[in-house]
Amino acid sequence: MNNDRRRFLKTSLLGGAVVAAGCTPGADRQQEVDSEPSAPLKILILGGTGFIGPHMVREALRRGHEVSLFNRGRTNNELFPDLELLVGDRNSGLQALEGGKWDAVVDNSGYVPRQVEDSARLLASAVSHYLYISTISVYAVSPVPITEESPLATMEDETVEEVTGESYGPMKALCEQRVMAQVGADRTTVLRPTYICGPGDRTDRYTYWPVRTMRGGEMLWPGTPEDDIQMIDVRDLANFTVDCLETKIFGTFNTVTPMRSFKMGDLLEDSLAVTDADMTPVWVDKDFISENEVAEGGGLPIWEHPDGEFAALSYVDGSRAAAAGLKNRPTRETARDTISWWKTLPADRTDKLRAGLGADKEADLLRRWHQQNA
Ligand SMILES: NC(=O)c1ccc[n+]([C@@H]2O[C@H](COP(=O)([O-])OP(=O)(O)OC[C@H]3O[C@@H](n4cnc5c(N)ncnc54)[C@H](OP(=O)(O)O)[C@@H]3O)[C@@H](O)[C@H]2O)c1
Repeated sequence: MNNDRRRFLKTSLLGGAVVAAGCTPGADRQQEVDSEPSAPLKILILGGTGFIGPHMVREALRRGHEVSLFNRGRTNNELFPDLELLVGDRNSGLQALEGGKWDAVVDNSGYVPRQVEDSARLLASAVSHYLYISTISVYAVSPVPITEESPLATMEDETVEEVTGESYGPMKALCEQRVMAQVGADRTTVLRPTYICGPGDRTDRYTYWPVRTMRGGEMLWPGTPEDDIQMIDVRDLANFTVDCLETKIFGTFNTVTPMRSFKMGDLLEDSLAVTDADMTPVWVDKDFISENEVAEGGGLPIWEHPDGEFAALSYVDGSRAAAAGLKNRPTRETARDTISWWKTLPADRTDKLRAGLGADKEADLLRRWHQQNA
């Protein structure tokens, strides 16, 4: 497995708006939900307190469902004081789940096949629906477009338990198979998100672009404004997750913004529109980026080099999920809400972005680019 896969996995580890004219997903979803409220479900979430979990918890509660959490009680455990918390570590013991009964389980914290197999085996008789949060990183290098039938990444030693940039994808693929084997495909939903973006994201991969824009001045943008990218807003993923439970949608789904609907130029426009910044974009071509290893170390998050081995990851077919009801809100809304959330964070969190180009590296690259094009 070469460096590129390692870089690809690191960037993906570890995400216009497809809105029919006049339809703003958030609003119509509410109307739909309120007009046909589903019978309250008892939902167990394995996790629930990191990034995607809180959005799922809030959406399930907003729709009148009952939510229990299972985690170690270490992460943000002040978030949901009124919810039943079953404390345990997937790595060592699921005793807290024994004897429980729920309508459905959402598995957010499943990375290690053995652990996922253990929870699926235990819960197979305790729930009627197992929803596993996987990732597009399960896919092996594939031709465009990547569909749910595209080949999956594999690993020689399937007993590996350390999650690295290399093992993450193949391990998640094995986790999917373990759930299917224990619960059965007719009671399982597998969601494969691409970059999950929005308020609460801990990786800053999407957040880098509007936040760096806010700093203004000359800013390096990779490739061309036409370069295709994909993401999924965390709230759209949460909505679709609860939809799947309410309407018993089973199967495997890529959860992404539709192919070729979102481009680097759109991300630029969104970033400018929601920051009102005085930023001058400098589009730097893909060859300069290769020659100068600009993307190394997550320097250009979300963007895939068009000639790169993993260019296909910007062409993941999401039509199956869209047909099943996944709605993608306007990307400008994701940008706006991400910046609003960012502005609520403490300085020690916002001082340094966790992804993207550092100021010195960017300035040096821009100097070299201008020299080269003088
Ligand atoms: N972020 C992305 O762009 C992206 C893209 C594709 C797929 N994904 C998938 O999204 C999921 C991650 O989402 P998230 O972290 O935001 O989920 P989350 O449900 O919000 O948070 C992770 C939860 O897992 C719990 N947890 C962690 N290790 C545990 C253990 N050993 N035993 C029991 N509980 C444990 C944590 O609580 P404690 O620490 O208190 O135990 C926390 O509640 C993963 O499955 C990942 O593969 C993410």
